[in-house]
Amino acid sequence: MSQTTIPATTHRSSDSTPARHLPIRPMAAATWDAAAADIDAITALKREKDAIVLAHNYMTGDIFHGVADITGDSLALARAAQHVAQSTIVLAGVHFMAETAKLLNPGKRVLLPDLRAGCSLAASVTAADVRALRAANPGVPVVTYVNTSVAVKAESDICCTSGNAVRVVESLGVDRVIMIPDQYLARNIAAQTGVDMIIWPGACEVHEQFTAAEVRALRDEYPGVTVLAHPECPPEVVAAADFAGSTAQMSDFVAGRRANMVALVTECSMSANLADAHPEVEFIGMCRLCPHMQRITLKGIRTALETGRHEITVDPQIADRARLAVERMLAV
Ligand code: 13P
Ligand code: SF4
Repeated sequence: MSQTTIPATTHRSSDSTPARHLPIRPMAAATWDAAAADIDAITALKREKDAIVLAHNYMTGDIFHGVADITGDSLALARAAQHVAQSTIVLAGVHFMAETAKLLNPGKRVLLPDLRAGCSLAASVTAADVRALRAANPGVPVVTYVNTSVAVKAESDICCTSGNAVRVVESLGVDRVIMIPDQYLARNIAAQTGVDMIIWPGACEVHEQFTAAEVRALRDEYPGVTVLAHPECPPEVVAAADFAGSTAQMSDFVAGRRANMVALVTECSMSANLADAHPEVEFIGMCRLCPHMQRITLKGIRTALETGRHEITVDPQIADRARLAVERMLAV
């Protein structure tokens, strides 16, 4: 892959066949019954092993409502990981989130229930790619999305999440940054800040599927629906939405009772979790699941606590530099 430079206003154009959208129903009683034994076992194991479960907003309801001690977006989980009292953190999310927790609190044992829980963005860029970008663009700061490996973070000036990317970019006070690896997040932040972006052609395999045509079809199907989009979506999807923000910012929008009918243009489990928490709001499902997030299951969390697998470690040679980039972000 190679870099591309874009002015702050460039947009991709795309259209494809609209997907089918259906109202989301709260989690069925039978699902809770089936999960009860694992939830009870995990609750006891957490006490026995001095463990805490940090769960991303995309976890399924049995995890999100059943065993998570702290839930949130990438930013909230990173902040929480810094301050946990327990000796073990079970990260119910994907690999980069577990690595970030380990970076921020290296004295803790961090467990990821399934090592295959990766991320298409993290897989799209290497440390060597970042070094090449720097060499080609001397003096331009590197802003790296947290959805990356520790090795990539170590080559970066500062990290960002979807929840703080605008603030992070503006904090640098420059008119040009290298923003990796999500080309769509970079374009969306360029449009909001007016800062030119040197981008990397990475994309989230879930959010890149959404199109403006699908949002228009949704509005035709459900007149009055409020559309909230994640900034990993292509810019024309964000432009077609009513609001764009991180998973936590979308949750806050819903909690603020600003809409009666909502479609979240993001991973579908999150709509189900919010539907459980907000029975007064009707949620229209966007039917896309992240295959990596879905690898984390209740049974996997139970096994992780029982066996101590899979413990996340970070190379001490690069940990300090990577931690600096994440801590700079948290200080903004
Ligand atoms: P948030 O930081 O908004 O939770 O996003 C993380 C992510 O992986 C979205 O696909
Ligand atoms: Fe990565 Fe996309 Fe899955 Fe988030 S939804 S973890 S960005 S692949």
